[in-house]
Amino acid sequence: MNPILVVGATGNVGGHVLSQLLAADKPVRALVRNPQAHFPPQVEVVRGDLTVPESLDPCLEGIDTVFLVWTAPPATVAPAIERFAQYARHIVFLSAPLKTPHPFFQQPNPARTLGLEIERQIEASGLQWTFLRPGMFAGDGLRWWAPQIRSGDTVRWPYLSAPTAPVDERDIAAVAVRALTENGHHRAEYVLTGPQSLTQGEQIGIIGQTLGRTLRIEEMSPDEARREMSAFMDFGMAPAVAIANVINMLLGAWAAALGQPALVTSTIAEVTGAPPRTFRNWAADYAAHFRA
Ligand SMILES: NC(=O)c1ccc[n+]([C@@H]2O[C@H](COP(=O)([O-])OP(=O)(O)OC[C@H]3O[C@@H](n4cnc5c(N)ncnc54)[C@H](OP(=O)(O)O)[C@@H]3O)[C@@H](O)[C@H]2O)c1
Repeated sequence: MNPILVVGATGNVGGHVLSQLLAADKPVRALVRNPQAHFPPQVEVVRGDLTVPESLDPCLEGIDTVFLVWTAPPATVAPAIERFAQYARHIVFLSAPLKTPHPFFQQPNPARTLGLEIERQIEASGLQWTFLRPGMFAGDGLRWWAPQIRSGDTVRWPYLSAPTAPVDERDIAAVAVRALTENGHHRAEYVLTGPQSLTQGEQIGIIGQTLGRTLRIEEMSPDEARREMSAFMDFGMAPAVAIANVINMLLGAWAAALGQPALVTSTIAEVTGAPPRTFRNWAADYAAHFRA
């Protein structure tokens, strides 16, 4: 069997895709920008960058199947997808529920425009494709709330009564692995959610219960969030405009989500045969990240 190429192997979902493929004894190649990235010895590591399309050729040599996460700027989408189509047969793209008619997923923003454009180009490329459409990741809580919970008992956050159905990244990866290793997933669009609609306030409460702590949860206004949220999130070296876009995207989605339950699907169980992990289960598994 030819190796499966994982783009985004150092990231939240790609990391689980890589480790689950290894656990299933599948050969794996990781496309990385930084060759110092640490992987188990059986992973073939090849340097590549989505923004430098010619760098993808050595990564794609002898590849049939690609797992793609795209967090890079949009300029090189077309030449990169051309290359994927030149070498590979099937691509599994980590997208979002861009076509689901729930208001949470229908707010205009640059990430949505980019996702739709990548999908359009993949569909036109001749590749077989599978689109993974997860809702909010459970792991977002690590970036948003863990720094506050590690440093005190107060969590300030906007739209505490906005519900989402947080999905565990390990479950997204399990669906990806099925799509990468089995036949029958061409043209599938898998809308993936956790098993339960929970408000953001309830999610923070569950983390507190898991830790055995009483957290004071305070509502932040959208304007305060625009000024303060970047401090609670890891944006790396992202430019200010990109940070503002992400914050506005989240605020718009949470505002639109108020007043109705989050969308919950049964797709993870249908594809993998196992029920999706609950948020309480996720919080227990990641409790150490919330402890000082
Ligand atoms: N967070 C959510 O709640 C949510 C919900 C639905 C959908 N999504 C979608 O999920 C995706 C993000 O997934 P994630 O959280 O797993 O991503 P992530 O943890 O941010 O990881 C991004 C990965 O892409 C790699 N990468 C970035 N730029 C690259 C480039 N120019 N060339 C090659 N590799 C590059 C990074 O590698 P380096 O190590 O080199 O940086 C890293 O491995 C986004 O498309 C987002 O829209 C997220």
